[in-house]
Amino acid sequence: MLHQVSVEREGTEAPGATAAASREPSILDYYRRDDPDLFAKCRAFSSEAVQGMRERGLWERLYRVTVIGGLDHRIRVFNPVRGREEEMVCFDSNSYLGLHRHPRVLEAAAAAMAEVGYGTPSAQVLCGTNRHLRELEEAICRFHGREAAMVFPTGYGANVGTLTALLRRDDLAARDRFCHASIHDGIKAAGTRHGFVYPHRDLAALDAWLSRPRDPRQGAMVATDGVFSMHGDLADLPGLVAVARRRGARLLVDEAHSTGIVGPHGRGLEDHFGLPGSIDVLVGTCSKALGTTGGYVCAPREVVEYLRFFAHAGLFTAAPPAHLCAGLVAAFRVLEEEPWHREALWRNVRAFVPALERAGLVVSGAGSPIVTVFVGSTRLLWAWSRRLFDAGVKCGTVAYPAVPPDEAILRLAVNARHTPEDLGRAVEVLGELAAEFGVAGKTPAEIGAIGDTLPGEVLQ
Ligand SMILES: Cc1ncc(COP(=O)(O)O)c(C=O)c1O
Repeated sequence: MLHQVSVEREGTEAPGATAAASREPSILDYYRRDDPDLFAKCRAFSSEAVQGMRERGLWERLYRVTVIGGLDHRIRVFNPVRGREEEMVCFDSNSYLGLHRHPRVLEAAAAAMAEVGYGTPSAQVLCGTNRHLRELEEAICRFHGREAAMVFPTGYGANVGTLTALLRRDDLAARDRFCHASIHDGIKAAGTRHGFVYPHRDLAALDAWLSRPRDPRQGAMVATDGVFSMHGDLADLPGLVAVARRRGARLLVDEAHSTGIVGPHGRGLEDHFGLPGSIDVLVGTCSKALGTTGGYVCAPREVVEYLRFFAHAGLFTAAPPAHLCAGLVAAFRVLEEEPWHREALWRNVRAFVPALERAGLVVSGAGSPIVTVFVGSTRLLWAWSRRLFDAGVKCGTVAYPAVPPDEAILRLAVNARHTPEDLGRAVEVLGELAAEFGVAGKTPAEIGAIGDTLPGEVLQ
């Protein structure tokens, strides 16, 4: 169905959405249903959408797969269709460098767990600030070259907490149309009345919106992903910095998918573009290259001190457990001291993208480990997803509203631990599908048309 449910909910619908929704029902149709019983939409969703996915064999394959053992370049799953355990090549892990299995990380986490216990159930401003959390803040500051950082239990919370704390109702908030749901939700939860969703990477539109006369009491924020989580392309940091400075706005960049990966030292977009310290509010997640859960915000000291008391998602919640912080401190050290994980990742990305292109697929660039294959219509997406699962290839299926209507994609997250055989298997299966469905060598428009005319049987 989709990867990110809440990217586009109210008021930010992608152009053309209505036309597409009339062909293929979208998840938004359920959310928007009017009924005095709050559970009515749930009943409809369960009996129509979920049941429909069950009947097409998609529900268990796509959304309820039981993974047995660890998440890695290969996984063991229980295949409900065949009723047995099977191995699959996996492109759903965001642990791009495999640090969730790194011995230094595991040792550090185990030692802290033995020392402190398995939780730190107290808010940070009460007794949740143990020495491992302090060391993690220091590691984050060192890595990003910042003076202060605050840790949150999740990256989602880091965005929502920061945006709700900084933005007031009368402030201006602009965000890229493709940015992560947590940025969308943060701006929405802040109740900002002056929001603007600019077309993807369209800095002229952003600049024009910010240039409108405004009350001198209104603050302004521009928020974006650094590497876009669904498409894997990069934000234009130099352009964003220029617009934000020219228009007196603060710039928030979510470095979830670039930390540890992008730039000569893996320090993210600032490293890639040679613009150290240019992001006003740098958000990070620990759930990608760092290999676990958690999020953080780097900002000037006074901003971080303010966030400690105003970012509810970090204040009114328990601190991340000490062993997780200790593991993360080790993970940051690995990022700094063991560049070969990053090198292995980029070798994989640079081999995988051209191989997919040679197989006739429309593939995103090789600028990040998030590699996407254009599928266009949701009909083709469902048909291919099922076939990929049955062939032992597990990857993301992304449809509207996570992407614009008729721009469905397969999302394959490459990691450093993928072997040439893993990558070759995905290319082989996708190449076969492209040939069988007549998609090989076609343009996105032609692929879309093929998907729209697929007979119903392919979905049965
Ligand atoms: C760009 C981006 N920001 C934030 C998040 C949320 O991070 P977390 O999983 O740590 O809550 C994600 C996760 O998918 C993401 O892709």
